[in-house]
Amino acid sequence: MPNRPYVVGNWKMNGSRAMLAEARAIDRAAGRYPDVQVALAPPFTMIGAIREAVSAMGVGGQDCHFQAKGAHTGDVSASMLVDSGADFVILGHSERRKDHGESDQLVRAKAEAAVAAGLGVIVCVGETLEERDAGGAESVVSGQVDGSLPQGENIGDAVAGGRVSVAYEPVWAIGTGRVADVPDVVAMHAAIRARIIALYGENGQKVRILYGGSVNAGNAADLLSAAGVDGALVGGASLTADAFLPIIAAAGNGEA
Ligand code: PGA
Repeated sequence: MPNRPYVVGNWKMNGSRAMLAEARAIDRAAGRYPDVQVALAPPFTMIGAIREAVSAMGVGGQDCHFQAKGAHTGDVSASMLVDSGADFVILGHSERRKDHGESDQLVRAKAEAAVAAGLGVIVCVGETLEERDAGGAESVVSGQVDGSLPQGENIGDAVAGGRVSVAYEPVWAIGTGRVADVPDVVAMHAAIRARIIALYGENGQKVRILYGGSVNAGNAADLLSAAGVDGALVGGASLTADAFLPIIAAAGNGEA
C-alpha cells in the first residue's frame, strides 16, 4: 500500500453512551497499531463524548451540510463537526444518497465545505446490483468519482496531505453479508485511481481508496491485501471492539 492503511468504523444510526467502552477498546487497539490509521464515525450525538474518551484514533461525522450556518433545521455544518471534536467526515454514503436523495453535485459541495473547514473527507461511491448486472458498474462509479470529489483551488493541499479518501462500497454488499469478489474490487479500485489521477494529477496517489461492504474478521485480510485497497470502511463489524479489532489487525498484518 502506498499510504498508511485507513480503517474506519461507520456506526451509522447506532450508538449511545453505553458504547463508550467499545470506543475506548477500539482506541487501545489503534494505539497498538501505529502503522494503521484507525477512525470511528459515530452519530453526531456521540462525537464529543468519544473524542474525550480516546487518544489514538480519529473521530468523525457521517454527514455535514454544505453551508457553514443558517436556517437548516436538523442539519450540522462542517465547522460544527470540527467544534465537536471531529477530524473527518464521511460523505455521499449510499444510504444518504438513497434516503435523502443526495446527488453527486451536493456531495461535492459538502466535500468542498468540509475540506475548507479543515476536515478530512471520505467520499463514498458504489453501484447498485442492477447497474452491475447491466455491465455498467465501472461507468457509474467513475461518474460518481468525477462528480462527487472536491475540486477547486484549496483542494490540492488536502489531497497532498492525504485528507481526501474515497470509499468504494457496492450498494449490494452493504449490510448484506455478500462481499464483492476480490478481482472485481481490484479492477474497480484501479478504475477509481485512474479517475482520481485525471482529477488531481500525480498528487492523486495520496488519495486512499477504501473498500466497504460486509467487511468482517473473516474476509478482511484478503480484501486489505488486494492490489489498490488502501483500507476499509466497516459498518456492522465496527460496533464492537471484538468484531473490529481483527480487521485493524489484518490491516496491520499481524496479531495484537
Ligand atoms: P457494512 O456497512 O460493513 O455493515 O456492510 C459498510 C458501510 O455501509 O459503510
